[in-house]
Amino acid sequence: MKLLLVGASGVLGSRLYNDVIKKKWDILGTYCSHEHEGLFRLDLRQRKSIEKVFNFFNPEVVILAGGITDVDLCEKRPGLAEEVNIKGTLDVIKKTRACGARLVFLSTDYIFDGRNGPYKEEDMPEPVNIYGRTKLEAETAVRGISHDYLIIRTAQLYGVNHRGKNYAVKIIQNMRNNKEVSAAYDFYSTPTYAGALSGSIIKLIEKKHTGIFHIAGKDFTDRYSYVSKISEIFGLKKTLIKKVSLKDLHLTARRPLKAGLNTDKAGKFLGGLLIGVDKGIGLLKDEFHEIGYKV
Ligand SMILES: NC(=O)c1ccc[n+]([C@@H]2O[C@H](COP(=O)([O-])OP(=O)(O)OC[C@H]3O[C@@H](n4cnc5c(N)ncnc54)[C@H](OP(=O)(O)O)[C@@H]3O)[C@@H](O)[C@H]2O)c1
Repeated sequence: MKLLLVGASGVLGSRLYNDVIKKKWDILGTYCSHEHEGLFRLDLRQRKSIEKVFNFFNPEVVILAGGITDVDLCEKRPGLAEEVNIKGTLDVIKKTRACGARLVFLSTDYIFDGRNGPYKEEDMPEPVNIYGRTKLEAETAVRGISHDYLIIRTAQLYGVNHRGKNYAVKIIQNMRNNKEVSAAYDFYSTPTYAGALSGSIIKLIEKKHTGIFHIAGKDFTDRYSYVSKISEIFGLKKTLIKKVSLKDLHLTARRPLKAGLNTDKAGKFLGGLLIGVDKGIGLLKDEFHEIGYKV
C-alpha cells in the first residue's frame, strides 16, 4: 500500500504516520512549516509543491489531514483559510484523481451549528464560523469531484505531536507550571484520542469503506468536566481549574456550543477502537511515559 499523508507533522498526522510505519506500508508524510525528520515539504497554497510530491510518489491512497485548524486564525484570516482548506483540497483532489488513488479527507464536528449535538452523518450541516465553512466546502468538493472517497469527521482531538501543540497538552503544561486554566462548562463535544482515531482510519482503509463516517470519543462532555478528568488522571491540582462560561473566554470565532459526533455507524465496524475520555486520557499518559515526553 502506497500511502501519502498530508499533514504528518500535526496531532493526528504524527500518530498516524508512526502507526502506518509499524504496519510496514509504504508511506510518504508531509509537513508545511514545521520540518521533521523523514517528512517531505508540501504547501497546500502552492499547486507546484502538491504536484511535485504526487509525481514523485504516485500514491494509491491519500490522507488529507493537513490544513489550517486554528479556528480563531481562520476567522481573522478568512482568505488564508479558504486558500489552504478549500483551494488546497481541490488541488489535492485533482492530483488524487489523476493517480487513480483513493482519498481520505479529515473533517470536523464544526460543520454543525452546535444546537443539538452529538450529530449523526446525515444531520444537516450549518457551520457557525469560517473554519467550519471551509471544511464543509472542502467536503462538498471531495464528494462532487472525487470518485472514491472516505470523509472522516472527528472532534476535539487530543494526542502528542512533534511540537506538543494541542489543547490537552497545553492544559497539562500550564497546570504542571501551577498556572490557572479556564474551562467552559457550557461548551460540549466528544473528545477524541488521536491513537483511537488513527487505528480507526487504518481499519476503514483496510476494509475499503467509502462515504462519510463520524469517528470520535464515546463521551459527550463539557470542557470543564474534560479538563477536570485530565487533572485527575495526571495528578494535577483541580483548584487550578477556573469554571467559566464560553462567552467569558472572548474567543474570536463563534463556537458550536453543543457539537460532538454520534459514532453509531462507525461503531458497527470499529467496536472497541472507539473509547471514552477515561481510557483515552489514560492512554495519553502512557504515551507520555513511553516516549519520555516532558510537558
Ligand atoms: N484538532 C482538532 O480538535 C480537530 C477536530 C476536528 C477535526 N479536525 C481535523 O482533523 C485533521 C487533523 O487535525 P490536527 O489537529 O491533527 O491538525 P494540526 O495538529 O493542527 O496539524 C495540521 C497539519 O496541517 C499542516 N498544514 C498547515 N498548513 C498547511 C499548508 N498550508 N499546507 C500543507 N499542510 C499544512 C501542518 O503542518 P506544519 O505544522 O508543518 O505547518 C500540520 O501537519 C484536520 O483536517 C482537522 O481539520 C481536528
